[in-house]
Amino acid sequence: MKAITVEPMKSNSALFEEIPEPDVREGSLLVEAVAVGVCGTDVEIVEGKYGWAPEGAKRLVLGHESLGRVIDPGYSKAFKKGDLVAGIVRRPDSVPCPACAVGEWDMCRNGQYTERGIKQIHGFMSERWRIEPEYAIKVEPSLGLLGVLLEPTTVIAKALEQVVFIGRRAFWEPRTLLVTGAGPIGLLAALAAKMFGLDVHVLDRMESGSKPDLVRALGATYHSGRVQDIGVVPDAIIECTGVGQVISDSIQAIGSSGTVCLTGVGHGGVITADATANIAAAAVLKNNVIVGSVNANKRHWYKAGNLLARADRTWLTRLITRIERPEDFTKALARQADDIKVVIQFAPV
Ligand code: BGC
Repeated sequence: MKAITVEPMKSNSALFEEIPEPDVREGSLLVEAVAVGVCGTDVEIVEGKYGWAPEGAKRLVLGHESLGRVIDPGYSKAFKKGDLVAGIVRRPDSVPCPACAVGEWDMCRNGQYTERGIKQIHGFMSERWRIEPEYAIKVEPSLGLLGVLLEPTTVIAKALEQVVFIGRRAFWEPRTLLVTGAGPIGLLAALAAKMFGLDVHVLDRMESGSKPDLVRALGATYHSGRVQDIGVVPDAIIECTGVGQVISDSIQAIGSSGTVCLTGVGHGGVITADATANIAAAAVLKNNVIVGSVNANKRHWYKAGNLLARADRTWLTRLITRIERPEDFTKALARQADDIKVVIQFAPV
């Protein structure tokens, strides 16, 4: 079968190549790939900055935002041929650490977790893939291709859950939520927060185009300036840019007792001791929590599935701005200005 593979930590090593059929040890459920979403992590892996091949292998099958159709359910009674499924990304470490031992692999304590398409387990960018039934999630059939948005939605389900859990430490009545960055994660955060009934503000550097339109279509408010200038004091901020300036502005702008949840992964920049002290002072004097959030456990996958199933399909469809064929994977990985979510489609839904 054909797959998009990469030699991790070696830039431009990605290939669409012939590889053996998936190993039965990867799971008893055999799935035909329908589509795989592309995200910043995939780009980093292809650029040779991140990623690990499975033990004993040189290359890794890329892709962690999956959508597939069951070809053979194996022994599992929970799935049948034709079901649309997505695969959970992370697997618990084998020690296991206390968090992984209770199924909270997203909070892995020793870093020895593995991740499909990222860290030591093959991903989903192959014509067929296998998965353990307990790590396969049924996708609401009416979502069709939109089911490929499930994985990024799980990241948001976890981030929002963190904010809600933290809010319980004191009396707190969140009304206003700011999302920084109107990429797929930011837009899905805005969607979820609107569905929770919050007053949602989204900030991005784009001044026109589909991002502002999508935000307004949700009934949320779009801003393209600085965090300080949005004219409201947010009770919570979901930071999705990973940009140093936006992060420090967010920490200064958050309201009293509010939480800044960081989901963006950025790089670079020098942190001066003075700037750190100012940011810390702002957090101390307003009882703020700054929390990082990565990945998702099974509970978040179920929550994300419910959220997507209830969401407006026309709006969700507009998030997928480009569909490429697997042989054109380099095009899929190259960012274009008006991209939101780019998807590689392996088979019709
Ligand atoms: C994925 C997460 C993963 C993280 C770090 C993200 O792109 O969505 O599931 O944990 O990368 O590898």
